[in-house]
Amino acid sequence: MKRFLLPVLLAASCNLWADDIMVSTPNSTLLLKADNGQVLHQSYYGPKVNNVNEVYDAYSLWEDAYPAFGRGCLTPTCLSVKHADGNMSTELVVTGHEKTQEENATLYIIHMKDKLYPFFVDVYYKAWQNTDVIETWQVITNKEKKTISLQQYASLSLPVRRGNVWATHFHGKWGSEGEITEEPLNEGMLVIQNTSGTRTALDDRGEVMLSLDGEPRENEGQVIGAAIEWSGNYKFRIHTPNETIHTLMMGIDEEHSEYHLQSGKSFTTAAVAIAFSQEGKGGVSRAFHRWARRNGHLHNGEGLRKMLLNSWEGVYLNVSQKGMEEMMDGISQLGGELFVMDDGWFGTKYRRTIDNCALGDWKTDTVKLPEGVPALVKAAKDRGLKFGIWIEPEMTNTKSELYEAHPDWVVCHPMREPQTGRGGTQLVLDVSNPKVQDYIVSIVDNLMKENPELYYIKWDCNMDISNFGSHYLTADNQSHLYVDYNLGLRSVLERIRAKYPDLVIQACSSGGGRVTYGVMPYFDEFWVSDNTDAKQRLFLQWSASHFYPVKAMAQHVSASPNHQTHHRIPLKFRFDVASTGRLGMEMQPKDFNEREMKFAKMAIDNYKNIIRPIVQQGDQYRIISPYDKSGYASELFVNEDKSEAVFFAYKYTHLVNIFKPRFKFAGLDPDRTYTLTELNREAGGRAHWEGKQFSGKFLMQTGIEIDLGGEYGSSVIRLK
Ligand code: DGJ
Repeated sequence: MKRFLLPVLLAASCNLWADDIMVSTPNSTLLLKADNGQVLHQSYYGPKVNNVNEVYDAYSLWEDAYPAFGRGCLTPTCLSVKHADGNMSTELVVTGHEKTQEENATLYIIHMKDKLYPFFVDVYYKAWQNTDVIETWQVITNKEKKTISLQQYASLSLPVRRGNVWATHFHGKWGSEGEITEEPLNEGMLVIQNTSGTRTALDDRGEVMLSLDGEPRENEGQVIGAAIEWSGNYKFRIHTPNETIHTLMMGIDEEHSEYHLQSGKSFTTAAVAIAFSQEGKGGVSRAFHRWARRNGHLHNGEGLRKMLLNSWEGVYLNVSQKGMEEMMDGISQLGGELFVMDDGWFGTKYRRTIDNCALGDWKTDTVKLPEGVPALVKAAKDRGLKFGIWIEPEMTNTKSELYEAHPDWVVCHPMREPQTGRGGTQLVLDVSNPKVQDYIVSIVDNLMKENPELYYIKWDCNMDISNFGSHYLTADNQSHLYVDYNLGLRSVLERIRAKYPDLVIQACSSGGGRVTYGVMPYFDEFWVSDNTDAKQRLFLQWSASHFYPVKAMAQHVSASPNHQTHHRIPLKFRFDVASTGRLGMEMQPKDFNEREMKFAKMAIDNYKNIIRPIVQQGDQYRIISPYDKSGYASELFVNEDKSEAVFFAYKYTHLVNIFKPRFKFAGLDPDRTYTLTELNREAGGRAHWEGKQFSGKFLMQTGIEIDLGGEYGSSVIRLK
C-alpha cells in the first residue's frame, strides 16, 4: 500500500486539479490522481462527487490504482513482469492522460511507463452515461529489445474502506449453478477462481458484489458490483489486511498462464465492469442489466426473444423427422414461435444415437432425418415457426471422422494420451489454432448456406480443458493455452457475428457453464441450467439475475415429474417461474391433457402479449429472496416510465401454520394508481384485490395479501 498526504493548502485552493480525473457515471464517481512522473492513485469510488475538495478534505488515503510487483512488495499486485534482462521489478509512473467522448460513454486513458524500461501500460476507464457502470482494462506494450514475460496481468485493483463489508459471490456445480454465498470480509484473502478453461461459470462465477454497510440487502445499502468480461480462467482476490481497506482485485488467472510478449507487441487485459449503487444489490443488478441491454454486452440487447420449444428433454438423442414434426405441431398449437432441435441429429459414419461419438461430424444422420435439415426448416415454416439447431462446435469425440482426420486438433500435449470426457470419448478442440478457428466458423457457414432461414443456434460446450497442452503452440508458448483458447474463441465469435448479426445464438455449457460477460456480447441468451425443476429454478434464476438481465435467461417449462429431481410440480407454477425470463418449453407437448393444453395456451398468450415486453425490457426488483428460506419468493418487473408492471409471488414450501407474508411491491411510482389483474389464473375464486386500484405508495409500503394456497402456489399480477 502506498500513501501520501496531500498538501492541504493546495487541495483547498482549487476545485479540480489538472491531473485529478473524475471518472463519473450519472450517480457514481471514481476519483484518480494522475500526476506526471508519479504513481497513478485512486482515492474514492462511491456516490457521485461534484466537488473534489470534499474528498481531499475528508481524508488522505490514496492507493495505487494499478499496482505492479517490485517496489513495496508487501501487498497484492495486478501486474508482474519479467523484463527482457531478467529484472522482475516494475515501477510504473504516469506520463500523460487523455479523455474522449464516445456515444453514451466517456473514455479516459492514462499512459504509464516503467521508470527504467521502454515498457508501457495504458489504463482505460470507460464511464457509461446511460447506466452506472465503469469498465476498466489495460493495454500492456513491450518496446524492450527482446521478449518479456507477463507473470500476472490482472485488470482491477479497487480499494474500499474497511468496515462491515460483505461479499456476495456465486458458486455451483452442474444442476445447481451460481448458488449464492454471502459472507463478511475478515482479515486475510478471499479467493474466487475458475480454472475450467471453457465452462468458466459452472462452478465459481465471474462476478462479485461488495455490500459496504452490513449484511447485503436487496433494495437498500451501498453496494459495488464487479464482473469480468473474459470467458477463460479468472481469479479474484479480496484482500483484507489488518488496516483501513479491503482491496478487490480481478483479472485473468495467471496460474499456468505466463504470457510472453515479443518486442513491439501489446497485450490487452480482460475488461472488468464495476457498478456502484445506493439501492442495494438490486440497484447494482439493474445497472448491469441496462449496461448489458443498451451497450452491446448482450447481443441484440434491446430485442424481444421468441417463445420456443427445445427437443432435448422431449426426445433426448432420439431425433426423427416424425418426432420433430410432432413437437412442432404441439408448440405451434400452443402459440409458440420457434422450435429447436437439440443433440442427436448428426453423424453418418458414427451416428449420434449415443453421446460417445460424432462431435465434429456435422452432417445430418439421414437414417433419422432422411430429408435433412432443410425439410425441418420448411416443416417449421409451414407451421408458422422459426427453426433452430444444436451444435457443440469446440468439441470432438475420439469416435468421429474429424478426430480421425485431425488428431492434432485436440487440446492435449502431443506426447500424452488424452483424458476423455463425456461418453469416455469427448475431447476439446484446440481453439488457439487458427485452422481450428476456421473450421468452427465453417460449421456455422455450412449450416447457413444449406439453411439460409435458420433462425437460432444452441451452442453447447460440455468439457473443461483437462489435458493441458497444444500441438499448435510452440514449446516456449505452451503456457499461452488458456488465454489463446479464449482469444481464439472470441475471434471465432466475432467472425460469426460479422456475417450473421441476426442469428439468435444461445450460450449453453452443460447448462449454465458459460454465463459470462466474456461471451455475452456474441450471444442472445444462455441456458440457465440443465436442472429444469421449477422450484430449484427459482433459486438459479434469482442468483443469475444479480448480474444478467432475465431476457438472456432461457427458462423452460419441463415435464412433471421433473427429469432431474423427480419433483411433481403443478403446470401453473412451472409456467409462472419460467415466465420471469425468456419463456420456453423442454418437454413433449403431446403429453398434455386437454386442461393442461388450455392452460399452457393461455400462459403463452399472456407471456407474449403482456408479460414479455415488461419482463424482457423493464427493470427487475427482487423482493423476497428464496434464499431467505421463508418458503416464499417474490419479484417485480416494471417498464421504463413505471406505467406498467408484472409482479410474481411463489410459495415453494408448505408447512402447517407457515407464516403468511403480506406481499410488498417495489420499484413502482408512488404517485401513480395501478389496477391489479391476476394473470395465468386457474379456475377458482377471484382475489379480493382483483380489478381494484391502489397507489404505488400503498403497494410498496403496505402491500397486499395473496392467497397462494399450499405448496407450489404462485400468482402473477399485472399492474397497469
Ligand atoms: C448439455 C445441455 O446443457 C443440454 O441442454 C443438452 O443440449 C445436452 N448437452 C445435449 O447433449
